[in-house]
Amino acid sequence: MLSWSGKQIQTYPDDVFIATYPKCGNTWVRHIICQLMLEDYKPRAGKELNVYTRTIEDVGKELIDRMPRPRIFKSHYTYNDHPKHPEAKYVLVVRNPKDVVVSAYHMCKNLKLPVFEGFDFNGFFELFMAGKYDFGSYFDYHKEWFDHMKDHNLLLLKYEDIIKDHKGSVVKIGEFLGGRAGEIVENLEKLAQVVEASTFKSMKEDQRRWVQDIFKDQNQFVRKGTTRDWKNHFSKEQSDRMDEKFKEEFKGTIAENWWQEEMKWED
Ligand code: A3P
Repeated sequence: MLSWSGKQIQTYPDDVFIATYPKCGNTWVRHIICQLMLEDYKPRAGKELNVYTRTIEDVGKELIDRMPRPRIFKSHYTYNDHPKHPEAKYVLVVRNPKDVVVSAYHMCKNLKLPVFEGFDFNGFFELFMAGKYDFGSYFDYHKEWFDHMKDHNLLLLKYEDIIKDHKGSVVKIGEFLGGRAGEIVENLEKLAQVVEASTFKSMKEDQRRWVQDIFKDQNQFVRKGTTRDWKNHFSKEQSDRMDEKFKEEFKGTIAENWWQEEMKWED
């Protein structure tokens, strides 16, 4: 988190915020939304997706105030910290915590930054479980947003559901956003183009389109794009501990029965 002024930005009714805990599919959904909303969207090295859609907490107020409208934002802010406007649209993308911790581990390993001493998956897992990963607790983040699931201007998407029904998810996003986005998803040819350009295979190509070169291996940002990759990393004990924590933290919330298939130990 680099900026000190992101929470102070002026918001507008046509703002769109794509809110996620890290590694829940923000890039994927932003790429879909940019295609639906922006006429001149052509991400490339030097004008990456991150230039079209600023990450609020990275760049801060001054740069954001100069962005043309309609503006599309990425954020990792909790609900309470998040800039708000009663008419702005919020797309919250969620993903099961077992795959999130694995995806986050690989991203940290791949950053051109020194990692902490003794950095390995087990060490990273403990950090995540203790809520001490830099972005705070996965569970606290989601619990704050869960109180707002019924807000008229919030769309909830599960990463796993987008994998299961990619086209249907693009339609859902377009209908929620309305305007140009709504028109595109009603046009079968244009809808097919958006879906094709956002498949895992096509997003895996030329990854200089997504983020500035902050990775040792730029091609590993869009990495596996699946569910249950956690089975290649977790021990049974780690899996049981995560299940226990999930139950304890999300009991009585909208999420208490989510991801039963995706998180179970048995294949
Ligand atoms: P993995 O590391 O598990 O592969 P974020 O953009 O929030 O950082 O999320 C990154 C995750 O989304 C990565 O997960 C990445 O591979 C996945 N992802 C990005 N584009 C995708 C696509 N088109 N289809 C499926 N997964 C995608």
